[in-house]
Amino acid sequence: MVLYFSATGNTKLIAEKLAELLEDEAVNLLTRIKGKDFSSLHSDRPFLICSPVYVSELPSFIADFLKRVSLTGCRDVYGILTNGGFSGIAGAQMRRIIKQKSMKFKGYAEFKLPSNHITNKSHAEIDDAEITKRIEASLNKAENVANGIKGGGCFKNRHIFLLEYLVTVPVAPMLCYFNQGTEGFRVKESCISCGKCKKLCPMNVIAMEDGKPVWNIKRCAHCMSCIQNCPVEAIEYKDVTEGRARYTASKHVNKNDAK
Ligand SMILES: Cc1cc2nc3c(=O)[nH]c(=O)nc-3n(C[C@H](O)[C@H](O)[C@H](O)COP(=O)(O)O)c2cc1C
Ligand code: SF4
Ligand code: SF4
Repeated sequence: MVLYFSATGNTKLIAEKLAELLEDEAVNLLTRIKGKDFSSLHSDRPFLICSPVYVSELPSFIADFLKRVSLTGCRDVYGILTNGGFSGIAGAQMRRIIKQKSMKFKGYAEFKLPSNHITNKSHAEIDDAEITKRIEASLNKAENVANGIKGGGCFKNRHIFLLEYLVTVPVAPMLCYFNQGTEGFRVKESCISCGKCKKLCPMNVIAMEDGKPVWNIKRCAHCMSCIQNCPVEAIEYKDVTEGRARYTASKHVNKNDAK
């Protein structure tokens, strides 16, 4: 069973591709995460847990969900991480959580895709050609990864040094604390009151008031789902996002027929 969360479609793309290659089921965890539904998920085949990487770690809401959900049946778990180039300690974090569930972690595979982190000032936009290149390379890599999983082997992962933990574990939450406030989000007149941003928010941060979104919890994971998926690009963040191209993988997959 392929379990995934995806804010802007990168992880969904890989999860669905792997499910197709493995002839297995892909399950979007959004509703369960939103509803804090930790009831059991059963699979007689290995679980694949597919997640984006945030600030060198697993998104906090995914780590929390994984700790609490009941996974029954097969005890083997593979991690699937999508990133913009660097997974940091996310794989090791997943390993620890899975071991605590008395399951067998069989390693993780990484997929480099376009970064969706549009609210980050240092976020570098990449052109369409590079986006297509990363998507195609990742879809090709999925075939090797699926073959490895079919063979039942473990993935070899790089050694994560203790120093990396010692730096990331205190620093990442600090960066999130200072950079992931919600007070910088605003909605423009062009909002058509469709409610998609509220529906997609994994942390239930968004409420609708007079048909417009309000961010009524002070911090969130900055997953980028609301700002990137708004159909009329009505959401902005501070002075950072105005004029920047919005990204979802599906725009590029459909355009380039990469699937
Ligand atoms: C808050 C945030 C932090 C991120 N941090 C990292 C990071 O540390 N390393 C990295 O390579 N990519 C990072 N990214 C990029 C995402 O991991 C990448 O674009 C991912 O594929 C998005 O997946 P999705 O489209 O399924 O949501 C970050 C993105 C966000 C929104
Ligand atoms: S997704 Fe965009 S258009 Fe729809 S309610 Fe949210 S801000 Fe408005
Ligand atoms: S408010 Fe937007 S960026 Fe923050 S968690 Fe919700 S959808 Fe993601």
